[in-house]
Formats: sequence, C-alpha cells, structure tokens
Amino acid sequence: MTFENLLAELENGILTITINRPDKLNALNQKTVKEIGIAIKKAESNNSVKAIIITGSGQKSFVAGADINEFVGLSVEQGKALAQAGQDIFKSIETCSKPVVAAVNGFALGGGCELSMACHLRIASENAKFGQPEVNLGLIAGYGGTQRLIEYIGKTKATELHMTGESITAHQALDLGLVNYVVPQDQLIAKCVELLEKIISKSPMAVKSVVKSINAYFENNVDGFKVENEEFGKCFVTEDFKEGISAFMEKRKTVFIGK
Ligand code: COA
Repeated sequence: MTFENLLAELENGILTITINRPDKLNALNQKTVKEIGIAIKKAESNNSVKAIIITGSGQKSFVAGADINEFVGLSVEQGKALAQAGQDIFKSIETCSKPVVAAVNGFALGGGCELSMACHLRIASENAKFGQPEVNLGLIAGYGGTQRLIEYIGKTKATELHMTGESITAHQALDLGLVNYVVPQDQLIAKCVELLEKIISKSPMAVKSVVKSINAYFENNVDGFKVENEEFGKCFVTEDFKEGISAFMEKRKTVFIGK
C-alpha cells in the first residue's frame, strides 16, 4: 500500500499505519483522513493483517488536530460534510473487526484525540498530551469527540476539557481511563506489539464479537444485551470454538484459524 500522507508497514501480522506529515505535526487534512479510511478498509479484507497500530511520525506529535488551514471559508453545509466524512472513517476504525491500538507518541489534540478514541485501545508515551482545543478556534470537535470522550472519561471531565480547551498529560489520561498504558517513548511500539500479540493469539472470531458487543453499548436504539446474546450464540458454530474446547480438553495450546 502506498499513500501520500501515510506509511503502512506489515510485520508479523501487525499493520502499522503512521500518519506522516511531521512538518505539520501530522495534522489531518482531508486527504489524510481519506487515506486512513482506505488503509483500514484494505486491512479488513487482507487476511495477512491480524491487528493494526495507528501512530504519528516523529517524537513530538501523534496528530495535532484536523488541518486548520482547510477550515477557512467553509459554509455550514461544507462544515457538516467535512465532519460527516471524518465521523464515517473514524467509525470504520471503531467497528474494525481486527484490534486497533493507537500508539500516541505526542500531541493528540482535536482530531488527534478523536482518532485515538476511535481506536479500540490507546497506549501513550510519557510526553503525550490529550485535548479538544477547538473552542480556542470558535469550533467544537467534529469527528466524534463530544461523544467518545464522554464514553471514556464521563460527562463531568469531558465537558471541562471541551469547554476549556485545555489538554491533559498522559498520566492524567491514564488516571481518567482514557488510555490503557503509559510507557517511555522508546518502548511505545514494543508495548503495542506486546499487547496485540496477546490478542492475536486468541480467537479472531471471538475478538470480532467482543468489538461488536462492546460497540453496541454505545449505539442508540440498540440493545447491547441482545447483541451480546447473538454474538455469544454465533461463537458455538465457529472452528475457533471447536479448537478452543479441544485444546482445553487435550491440555495443549490453541491454534486458532479465525473461522
Ligand atoms: N493544522 C494545521 N497545521 C498545524 C496544526 C493543525 N492542527 N497543528 C500544528 N500545525 C503546524 C503549524 O502551523 C506549524 O506549521 P508551520 O511550521 O508551517 O508554521 C507546524 O505544524 C508546527 O507547529 P508549531 O505550532 O510551530 O509547533 P509548537 O510546538 O509551537 O506547538 C501545538 C504545537 C500543537 C501546541 C500547536 O501547533 C497547536 O496549538 N496546534 C493546533 C492544535 C489544535 O488546535 N488542534 C485542533 C484543530 S481543530
């Protein structure tokens, strides 16, 4: 896969997607958002991809937001279309059947915080900063940030961050439950790989059902318990389930095939 603003590298089943606009602190212009959507779609259908890491190039920034230069002169309709395109692509990350980890290597502001929140898991380097500073520009978050930040840290703190535009440190993000782990920058990718290797060794069919069931909790007009019930039932006819049960009985390690 070759992209203008992304690097994509597949190693041992883990696809690392690097947002590659370091001169602009990896700000997300529309082209980059579109390319992220393409990369996720291709990863979904590529059997060699078992898991995904999304990170930013350099040591300073994950993503410093949507590209502010592209906001100038937008009409109401253009603004809504921009948000819709971003929301749709971020949703495709959240609903990806393969585990997606954000390796947050620095600023995760605005669209960067939103991108990290669309991933299933977040691991931050010690220098990472999270925030939704759109109010400073007379804007609000548009790529799902008002909704997802509440999911992770609750309404009280989410409202404060959106209203003040202030950012929080990696350790504050950890305390609030926004990130899974904080590690020194030079261990960031290794920690993501370690976590993903653990997940990859489990049943891909079951992991897919975990994603679907957990996402159902946050969907309007969807009964999450019903989704869980359906996904639970589906597990019983998978090859992975047969393998899981056989391995347990035979006291051996599982070899899941994801079917
Ligand atoms: N959109 C477009 N360009 C951006 C950007 C963004 N969101 N964030 C940073 N950049 C660009 C800067 O314009 C600058 O480009 P230039 O060298 O061509 O002037 C370059 O990235 C480096 O940024 P700079 O501001 O010089 O770095 P800094 O270390 O002094 O500050 C930040 C870093 C993140 C605090 C600062 O860049 C910032 O506040 N960015 C905007 C964050 C934001 O509001 N995001 C939400 C957008 S909706």
